[in-house]
Amino acid sequence: MSKKLVVLGIQWGDEGKGKIVDLLTERCDAVVRFQGGHNAGHTLVIEGQKTVLHLVPSGILRKNVQCMIGNGVVVAPDALIEELNALESAGCEPRQRLLISPGSPIILPSHVALDQARERARGKNAIGTTGRGIGPAYEDKAARRGIRFGELSDPDSCCERVGELLEYHNFLLTSRFGVDAIAPDDVFSEVHRWSQELAGLIGDVSNRVYEIHQDNGNVLFEGAQGTLLDIDQGTYPFVTSSNTTAGAAACGSGVGPLMMTTVMGIVKAYTTRVGAGPFPTELFDSDGDHLAKNGHEFGATTGRPRRCGWFDAVLARRACWINSVDSLCVTKLDVLDSLSDIKICTSYKLDGETIKQPPWDSRSLDRCVPNYESLPGWSESTVGARSLSELPREAKNFLSRLEELLDVPIDIVSTGPDREETMVLKNLF
Ligand code: GDP
Ligand code: IMO
Ligand code: MG
Repeated sequence: MSKKLVVLGIQWGDEGKGKIVDLLTERCDAVVRFQGGHNAGHTLVIEGQKTVLHLVPSGILRKNVQCMIGNGVVVAPDALIEELNALESAGCEPRQRLLISPGSPIILPSHVALDQARERARGKNAIGTTGRGIGPAYEDKAARRGIRFGELSDPDSCCERVGELLEYHNFLLTSRFGVDAIAPDDVFSEVHRWSQELAGLIGDVSNRVYEIHQDNGNVLFEGAQGTLLDIDQGTYPFVTSSNTTAGAAACGSGVGPLMMTTVMGIVKAYTTRVGAGPFPTELFDSDGDHLAKNGHEFGATTGRPRRCGWFDAVLARRACWINSVDSLCVTKLDVLDSLSDIKICTSYKLDGETIKQPPWDSRSLDRCVPNYESLPGWSESTVGARSLSELPREAKNFLSRLEELLDVPIDIVSTGPDREETMVLKNLF
């Protein structure tokens, strides 16, 4: 039977989704991005050669894989053109295999200006967004005034609609935020350029996935961000503006939920977060420095240092059932090498009480104190290990404990950034 696999992050993003999606697409006919935008930064390393993708699905380096951007993704045409050009310069031919849904909302320069103006106005309460216009573009979609990718096929009428929207954006920018307006003529000439460069990529993603399904093909749905950044289930308001959870894979690509056969959750062996918001297991000591340094924890999109902490099984367990995760991939196990003690948070203390489910609001989560269990670390290197038998006993015990706490089998373990530095314990196709 053909497989439809959802791959998503179950922490605050940057779990290593790009690496795993690239690995798994060896056996896929298509990969679909279903939410988020170029706030994502997905890193692929193949024989030492690094590629960072933001909008283009992580199957693009496999020659026979159809890549699709679903209607749930907000598309910044200028960023997309830049990414396609960079891929072409590196010898890849992305345009021949990329299809973009006409229903995807477009990110305009005024969305970027609004995102940044709002963040400045929030001052010390800033969310720490990537400043890419993601939130304002999703707002316009929900308010039913957004511009959609399919409109690029008729640039003149698209400019008319963009002009109307810019009037509203410029009112906000100048009167509400006291910053410069965006010149409409500049955007209109951009729209014509986008239309020339990208209109040929517009296609019916929903239908294409259905055709592949009818032909018994394998499709991978690639998540961006992570479950704890989900607009509904995450640490609101310190979240992104899309649903990052498994349900979004269906509505963000135009397929039914029963098409999915497996949901793989990707977790780092510890936790990181970029931007503001609660993070109960965050470390400010030498162990935190070890994780940041050995994990090279700097954002793939903004270059910001990532906050680092111990594995939080309270949040991860919840993330598993929210997504129907039935398969786990643990990444960056190697980053724990040479730590003498490794901690896992198994419950919180809040107002004198021990709780096993996180509180619903960010303010209370911020006050939660983690209760840890300690596991002995290992001194050998696990980098590049290809089978469980190559791992030290303590590393195997750590993985078994994660499986037990999350109640989901671990099918893949990653011990280095390269495609090859991976142990596949169960074939998912
Ligand atoms: P994504 O957003 O989930 O795709 O993850 P990012 O690409 O933003 O961040 C993950 C980072 O960790 C990238 O630099 C990867 O190359 C790197 N990485 C992925 N898996 C491993 C691993 O198992 N070990 C190490 N050391 N690095 C890894
Ligand atoms: P990938 O796909 C980590 C975070 C931002 C900020 C919040 C809102 O690489 O895992 P936004 O620009 O989306 O309005 O910012 O979400 N954020 C990410 N953090 N990885 C990502 O993507 C992220 N995309 C957004 O740092 O806290
Ligand atoms: Mg990333």
